[in-house]
Parts: sequence; structure tokens; C-alpha cells
Amino acid sequence: MTKILCIGAGYVGGPTMAVIAQNCPDVQVTVVDINPDRIAAWKSDTLPIYEPGLLEVVQSSRGRNLIFSTEVDQGIADADIIFVSVNTPTKTFGRGAGCAADLQYWEKTARQILENSTSDKIVVEKSTLPVRTARAMERILHSGDGNVHFEVLSNPEFLAEGTAITDLMDPDRILIGGHETETGQAAIEKLASIYAQWVPPEKILTTNVWSSELSKLTANAFLAQRISSINSIASVCEATEANVDEVSRAIGMDSRIGAKFLRASVGFGGSCFKKDILNLVYLCETYGLDEVADYWRQVVAMNSYQGERFVNRMISAMFNTIVGKRITLFGFAFKADTGDTRESPALTVSRQLLAERADVVITDPQALVNAAKDLNEDAVTYEQDPYEAAKGAHAIAVMTEWQQYRDLDFVRIHDSMVKPAFIFDGRNLLNHKELHEIGFNVYPIGKAALTHLE
Ligand SMILES: NC(=O)c1ccc[n+]([C@@H]2O[C@H](COP(=O)([O-])OP(=O)(O)OC[C@H]3O[C@@H](n4cnc5c(N)ncnc54)[C@H](O)[C@@H]3O)[C@@H](O)[C@H]2O)c1
Repeated sequence: MTKILCIGAGYVGGPTMAVIAQNCPDVQVTVVDINPDRIAAWKSDTLPIYEPGLLEVVQSSRGRNLIFSTEVDQGIADADIIFVSVNTPTKTFGRGAGCAADLQYWEKTARQILENSTSDKIVVEKSTLPVRTARAMERILHSGDGNVHFEVLSNPEFLAEGTAITDLMDPDRILIGGHETETGQAAIEKLASIYAQWVPPEKILTTNVWSSELSKLTANAFLAQRISSINSIASVCEATEANVDEVSRAIGMDSRIGAKFLRASVGFGGSCFKKDILNLVYLCETYGLDEVADYWRQVVAMNSYQGERFVNRMISAMFNTIVGKRITLFGFAFKADTGDTRESPALTVSRQLLAERADVVITDPQALVNAAKDLNEDAVTYEQDPYEAAKGAHAIAVMTEWQQYRDLDFVRIHDSMVKPAFIFDGRNLLNHKELHEIGFNVYPIGKAALTHLE
């Protein structure tokens, strides 16, 4: 029986391994983490992350061929294939601070693998990493007495939070990068044979290690670039009375452009886009490619600008002061169907509103615990019920595209708010015409405002 270990039981490690275990009953899958609370939650029915369909998949294999544990060393010793899915955040100190990846967790893991291995291992990079990290990994792994052979593969994860289970069950492609040596090719085949149990062979793509590492950074850079591009056009729409939805539809029907990822919004968030683009920027700078670095840095700059612009529009609309005004954020998660708040635009918007001395109220179906941790602000009110959250508010700002917000009774909400009542729809989620008819002053993204003001 093949034994797989995954180090890191986070948003990637947990769902990925649960799907492998479900599809490969003949493979033993163990997921370890240094955080005992996270492991305890994975063993319970209150999983540490919210993801539609995840609990059912975990329950189908947990205790059979899916085990969660804190025994990292033992797990390493027993495994044939080790996925490393630890976090690789942006460095906050020293050289490359604010841009380069912080690889301390990564290196610790490499050393731990070396110390606890007595048989050959395939080590799989699941985390998103700077290009050529596999080389550093190999140098550490091969610094031992040489009795154990380690083959390092790159197998980046392309799942999106909120749709992780469907993305994993039916991926666009599985990418495996390996060395062009005999052992490298054998390792690729072994890993591919696991995915082949549920993924069609034509979707399993193999490349060299560096192409695989770079493809993951490039995919995220391109996706974020599309959002920043359409958001840049949204600002032009607001200035010219063009409508960004109409522009998106018109350009998206061009088969060379395509319709996906063209929704204007308050900006992208999540733990990956910004971090991975900055990682690419740092890589470019390291190789003296300064113009290329500047090009990609602008995608991040445009995203920050979009959030600032959103708050500036709120302040101008509300008569140039929001001091003491109750402003309710509908949603705090960085996107719908997740409780993840890392790099959420709601975070920067909240901080700007607090700096303007507004009274901030936050409602979200899944992310209130994370929101309270992130903001760490006594001045903020957290309220699960959107009707309660909106009561007495001067304005609502839609920050997350939770579908349930579309079905709320906005007449009731309008009745309970201070007049004139404002809605700033940072996701273009709601029916603006209807809201305007109810009496709201409505400010979408990339479209003319619908107001009752002179
Ligand atoms: N979140 C996503 O949507 C997504 C998608 C694709 C790729 N990725 C990449 O996957 C990687 C993991 O992301 P995530 O969102 O799952 O992060 P996460 O923070 O949710 O999970 C990482 C886990 O690793 C654990 N960990 C850290 N060091 C450890 C060690 N030495 N031993 C055991 N456990 C350790 C942490 O306790 C944490 O639980 C990142 O590189 C990220 O860029 C993330």
C-alpha cells in the first residue's frame, strides 16, 4: 500500500488530501501539522476551514485511509511520498521584505524530512514557491550521509477557495514538474498514477521542475492581472458613464479574450494573488529584469488603488464626512463560500473607515471569527444577522459576493436605516435598479450612481 504524507493541514493540504483519499482507497493518506488545534478540528465535524462539500469528502475516508495527526516525524519515517503544503507567506523582515517569500517553514520542513528518513522518498512541492526552490530543497535533502534517495517534484495546486472540492475532483489540469533523469521520470510516473485514478490522462501535464514552479506564479499573476485590468476600466466607466458590465460582456465575447475573471469589484484578496505576484516581482529583480518587475508590480498597485477609490467614493457621496456614521459591511471574507479573510479588501476598507472615525459593523455568514482576529479592534461590532447589522446604519458596503445577500428583504432593511440610506456595492452583486426604487442611493462599481440626491 502506497503511503502518502502531507505536511501542512491548511486550505490546500486538507482538501487536497481528502480528495486523494476518497479517490484512492488503496492509498494511505496521513495529514500532519504542527498546530494541534487545527488537527483536532480536522478530526471533528467542525472543520478548521469552511469549504462547500468538504465535510462529506472528509467523512467518507476519515478513519479508513485518511488520518490527521500531529506526529510529523513518524509520518515522515513511514511515507513513500511526502507532499509539503506549508505556508509560504511574504517575508516581513530583512532582505526582500514585503516582496520575497518567507521560506523558513519550508526549510525547517526539508531538514525535518532529512532527519527522519530511513527509506527513499518522493518529496512533492505542493506549496507555491519561488522558482528554483526545488534546487535548495535538494541541497538540504542531499546534505545527509547519502543512504536515502530523495526525488523532488513540483506539483502546484490550482484550486480556488470556495470551489476547492469541485476544482480538485475535476481539475483543468494536474501539473507535475520533475527532473529529466531516470529517477525523476519514475517519480513523475508514480505521482501521475495516483491522480490518474480519477483525472483523465490528457489532463495530467508533465514538465521540467522550473517550468512547473514558474507556471503556478504565472497563472496567479495572469488571473490577478485580469481583475486589475477590468478594475482600471471600471474607474474610467465611472468617469464617463460607460457601464463596466457592458464593457466586460462586449470584450469577453471575443474568443481571444474570454469571459472569465472580468468582473469589476472592490479588488482581489486571498492569501495567494498578492504574495505570488510579489514573489514573481522579486524573482525578476533578482535576475535584473527591472522593467518586468515593474510591469507586474503595477497589478498589485492597481488593486490597492481600487480599495482606496472605493472608500473615497463613500466619503464623497456621504457629504464628505463619515465621522460617527454607522457603516455596515456585508461580508468580510475575501470571496464568497469561504471563511478565509487573508488579504481581504474588507480588511483595508475597514481600516480606512476606522481611520475616518466611522462606526464599523461587520456581518458575514462564515468569516466573523477571522474578521475579529484580523481587525483586533474594540471599536468594531460583529453581527451574524444582516438585518440586525444594518439597523440604524447610514450605509451598507457589500464586500463579499455571498449569494444570500441578493435575497434579503431590502425594504425592511431600508426602513431600519438612517436616511438618506446608501448602498456601496463593491461586488456589483445586488439589483441596483430595485434598490434605487426602494429609496436607496446606490453606488455600484464601474457604473453611474443611482441616487435621489440633488
Ligand atoms: N489557499 C489557497 O487557495 C492556495 C491555492 C493554491 C496554492 N496555495 C499554496 O499552498 C500553500 C499552503 O497554503 P494554505 O492556504 O493551505 O496555507 P495555511 O496557512 O492554511 O496552511 C499551512 C499549514 O502548514 C502548517 N505548517 C507550517 N509549518 C509546518 C511544519 N514545519 N510542519 C507541519 N506543519 C506546518 C501550518 O500550521 C498551517 O496549518 C502556500 O504556499 C500557498 O501559496 C494556496
